[in-house]
This record gives sequence, structure tokens and C-alpha cells, in this order.
Amino acid sequence: MTTHESSSAAAAATPVVVPAAPVTDWADFSFETRQVHAGEYPDRNSGLRVPPIALSAGYVFDSFDDQIDRFAGRALWHGGGLTRGDGAEPEVVNELLPGEPAPIYSRQGNPTNAVAEERLASLEGGTAAVAVSSGQAAISSALFAIAQHGDHIVSTASIYGGTRILFGRSFKRFGIEVDYVWDADDDAEWDRAIRPNTKAIYTETIPNPRNDVTDLRRIAAVAARHHLPLIVDNTVGTPALIRPIEHGASIVVHSTTKFLTGHGAAVGGAIVDGGTFDWDAAERAGRSFPLVTAAPRPGLASLLDRFGPVAYARAVREAVVNDIGPSLSPFNGFLLHQGMETLSLRMERHVASSLQIAAWLEEQPEVDTVDYAGLPSHPLFDIAKRDYAGRTGSVFGVTVRGGIDGARAFVNGLRVFSRMTGIGDTRSMVIHPLSSTHASFTPEVSERLGITPGLLRLSVGLESADDLIRDLRSALDRV
Ligand SMILES: Cc1ncc(COP(=O)(O)O)c(C=O)c1O
Repeated sequence: MTTHESSSAAAAATPVVVPAAPVTDWADFSFETRQVHAGEYPDRNSGLRVPPIALSAGYVFDSFDDQIDRFAGRALWHGGGLTRGDGAEPEVVNELLPGEPAPIYSRQGNPTNAVAEERLASLEGGTAAVAVSSGQAAISSALFAIAQHGDHIVSTASIYGGTRILFGRSFKRFGIEVDYVWDADDDAEWDRAIRPNTKAIYTETIPNPRNDVTDLRRIAAVAARHHLPLIVDNTVGTPALIRPIEHGASIVVHSTTKFLTGHGAAVGGAIVDGGTFDWDAAERAGRSFPLVTAAPRPGLASLLDRFGPVAYARAVREAVVNDIGPSLSPFNGFLLHQGMETLSLRMERHVASSLQIAAWLEEQPEVDTVDYAGLPSHPLFDIAKRDYAGRTGSVFGVTVRGGIDGARAFVNGLRVFSRMTGIGDTRSMVIHPLSSTHASFTPEVSERLGITPGLLRLSVGLESADDLIRDLRSALDRV
């Protein structure tokens, strides 16, 4: 027998085993699996395992008609154009959520960002997501898709200072008014604030900086009663701790700069469409959301009629982000989808350290108060336990004795905590809100928000909690 004959005999004996098709729909998998895989696409040309950074401003259309389909928003993105190299038709191996249109130009969509978008939509339990250049861009884009000059928004009072500034300055200049509800448990206060031209209710899950957790179901009931979408900033909570859509939110926004990207390296933001808001019913009740429900031109059906549960995401992408242009760099999109792979692990550690540190701080004689809702002594502990499983993130307030002088001495004594703006990093950080994020507020507003001279905001990172406690202790020695 020749060598040639023996090898072909062996080949004939080898059973043909067709490898199982890769998973392309991760919906039935657990959170931990989805944070690693959702949105990824296997690139059969190169075998790349990690979705690459697609640094391309534009995209080649397969044909004249593909261009028409893409501009009509009909073509779905298909995993980076997986042509098999043998001239065969591109194979659709990863039909993304229906909210992911095939890209035309990177201002409107990008394959790297699409991985992050699908992953985040999956983790939040939404139908689609749109990645943008910052958290502020996410909040603006989310609201510009439903509110315009002459419209009105009602927000809870305890929100990130930058959002309050955005509402009070730019939104005001654009003719969109924002009113605040101070007691979110008071239905009558909501009813007084909401007007015929109100377009949305806005809140945060775990407000920055005071950790005064929100009873989302209660606010969602108000929103439902008034046929309004509820927009929730889940930056501090993250979907690893709470998923607002499960509690009645219609739309979720993020500063992905924080925990989602996770390492303090890239500014970004995202809007998630819950796919749950009944735009038609709201219109019948007298609200109007023309970007979603009206025909953009005679003869063309509305986004709602064409795209159903992802119509709002389409409005954000096509009618706001593509027009105004706060697109996410694919480089930052890469850091975002990679950061999300370890989200739940990092959040576990952030929360465990925060609980340990908050409980320890509460015992220190130099500390007046600790604003961490996961502590049994906190007035919102019951909500923290019921809706957040007691895990209220790692951004919280601590008030040291001695007012601003005590705060100054404490901050200057820290050596491991960085004095800086920012939260949700691997590194621990401290800031004095009254003289930074809230510096432009009137004394009355600051006082009402509990932003006192001695209040400091901590963002607990991933260092050892014992090392952080040592650092805090030596700083408290100076107070
Ligand atoms: C809760 C919250 N929302 C939005 C933002 C704004 O995000 P960005 O800085 O990415 O624009 C921040 C920033 O700190 C924040 O804490």
C-alpha cells in the first residue's frame, strides 16, 4: 500500500462531523453570558475572536439597490459583511436586533459600536440601543427625539448636577422647559407638575451624588397614568444591579464613561429603547411624538408603523444623532463593549467594598452622616432592599464634621482616593460637590438637595477595601 493509499483510507474512515453552528441569538442565556457574548459576530474571513475596531467613516454598498435599502433603513446590518471570499452572497450570520440598521456612514452607525449597542440592549432588556459620544449626549438625544421647542419635561429633583445644568441652560435656550418634583412619593406633586405639553418623565436609579435610590415602580405608575414615557438614567445603577425596564421604564440612558466602560479611559453614552411604550395610545390620549408616530413625508409610513418596538431607537439614531452628530468613536465603542464583558464581576466588588466602607464610615467619630441606601440605617433602605437587593452601587455621600474646613482637611489627607471629577472607575475618587458639580446652583437649591458644605462624594473603586479604609482613616485624622 502506498502512502497515498493509506492516507485516503484514513480520510475515508474519518466520520464527517459538522461543527455546531455558533450561537447568534443570546437572548435565552444568563446575564453573565450575555455580557460576554451578546452583539459579537464571528468574522469568518479572519477568525478574529474579539470584535475589531472598525475605523471606517463609510461603508461600501453591495449594489445600487443595497444603497436604496440602506437609505430607506430596510437593510439590516450583517456582521461586518461576511462575504465568504468565493463570490457567494454575503451570509447573514448575525442578524442583529431589528434596531440595528446596516451602516451608511459612521455618524449614523458603526459595526464596533453595534456590538456595544446590542450588548447593552440585551443587558438592559431593551429592544435596541444607540451609542453616542457622552452621557450628556445620551440624555440630550433621548429627549430631543420626543421633545421640541415649546415642550415640557418633568424630572425628579435629585439628579446629577450636570444634567440639571443641561436642563437649566441648553434645554431652556432650545425652548424645552424642565420642572422638578421634590417628593417623588407625592402623586399630587406629580399631577401638579405634569401639563398637556409634557413629553416625558425623567429620573435616575441611584442618584449621583446622594445615593437616594428611586422607587421606579411608583414613578412608572405616574408616567403610565399620564401616558408619558419614563426615561431613566441608569449610569450609577448599571443593569448588573437594576434593570429599569423591568420596573416600568420606557427608555434607559447611560453615561457609559462610568461603570459600563469601567476603566475611566473613554467618554461615551447610550440610549436604550425598552420597546414597551405605547406611542399610539399616548397619542390617542392627547400626547404627540411626531418623530416616532408621524409620516416623515407624504407616502412614507411613520417609524412606528415601519419599525414597531424599535421605532424610538430609530428616531434617536436617524432623526437626532445623525442630524446633530454626537456619534461615538469606534475606538471608544470597542472599550465599551470590552468593558461590559466584566460588568457584573466589577459591580459585585464595587458594591461589596462600598457596603464595607459605608458601614465603617458610619462608625467613625469624625463622620456626621453617610448617604448609602444599602445601609440598614438609611431611610430608603426598604426600597434599596426591595428593588436593588441592598446593592446601591459605589457612588455615595459622606459628610465629615466641621463643614467646608473639615471637608478640605479630609480631601487633602487622602492618598489613594484621587481628587477628581468622575465616578465608576477602577480607581477610587473623591469630590466636593458644592464647589464643583453643584457650584452654579443657588444656595437654596443646593440646600434643598442636601448638597451641604461638608458633603463629599466618594466613588469606590476596585482597590482592596482594607487599603481604602486605611486611606480614609488617615484622612479623617486630619479633620
Ligand atoms: C448619572 C450621570 N448621568 C450622566 C452623566 C454625564 O455623563 P458624561 O460625563 O459621560 O457626559 C454623569 C457624569 O458624571 C452622571 O453621573
